[in-house]
Amino acid sequence: MLDITAKVIENRLLSEKGRIYSLTLDSPELSKDCLPGQFYEIKVGGLDSRFLLRRPFSVAFCDDKTVTIRYNVVGAGTEWMSGITPGQMLDVLGPLGRGWPVDKTKKTLLVGGSTGIFSVLGAASHLGDKSRAVLGFRSCDLVNSVEDFKAFGVPVSIITEDGSSGRKGLVTELVKEELDKNEYDTVFICGSTLMMKSVAELLKDYDVDCYVSIEERMACGVGACMGCVVKIKADNEQGWEYKRACAEGPVFNAAEVIW
Ligand code: FES
Repeated sequence: MLDITAKVIENRLLSEKGRIYSLTLDSPELSKDCLPGQFYEIKVGGLDSRFLLRRPFSVAFCDDKTVTIRYNVVGAGTEWMSGITPGQMLDVLGPLGRGWPVDKTKKTLLVGGSTGIFSVLGAASHLGDKSRAVLGFRSCDLVNSVEDFKAFGVPVSIITEDGSSGRKGLVTELVKEELDKNEYDTVFICGSTLMMKSVAELLKDYDVDCYVSIEERMACGVGACMGCVVKIKADNEQGWEYKRACAEGPVFNAAEVIW
């Protein structure tokens, strides 16, 4: 894990209405050991003392020299980020956490909802055509990154709640259709808690391994504050224990999560 200052080479608007951005850092050091599903903690706000805590961002993809994260503007921190210009330096900690158990010998279904698609995009960059993605959004304004999945060789199906792009409905419908083909060994899911819980529940009827990335609010990002704990099944008297999403996760075996 590194704590370094990295230069921004791009901060591109992907969706105007959704206020979704793609930010790329020029940093061979940060990209060197980066695995899909891991995340970086970025110090936002520069010298502005209102921003005490770093913000966590899933890696969308890396190459030998760069790291790309994606984010949507949801508060003062990400509002500040939206104003970053190429050449600006950012204080970045990472890569952090445990990522997806990517295995190219296994056919993998990638399930993403809303900004959860960024984490599964990281898995897509490694799996290519050994995977397929089903992506759910509220409406067409929020649809983004689809061309990036395709550029990695991953077929994509889209579903929106209002039917304004792709099919109308919920992502669970597409997941069920894909699983009924009996082609998949593994499913990776990242999205809202409700969506992940629904898909994980559905998967109990299928013989597939299922992993979820739990994007809890994170303060320290390095396992020190216990602010990101998740209830995980355990072989103890009470039957469960807390695990830290930032350190033991954010990817967990869905069968072990107590929702
Ligand atoms: Fe502090 Fe996870 S964010 S322990």
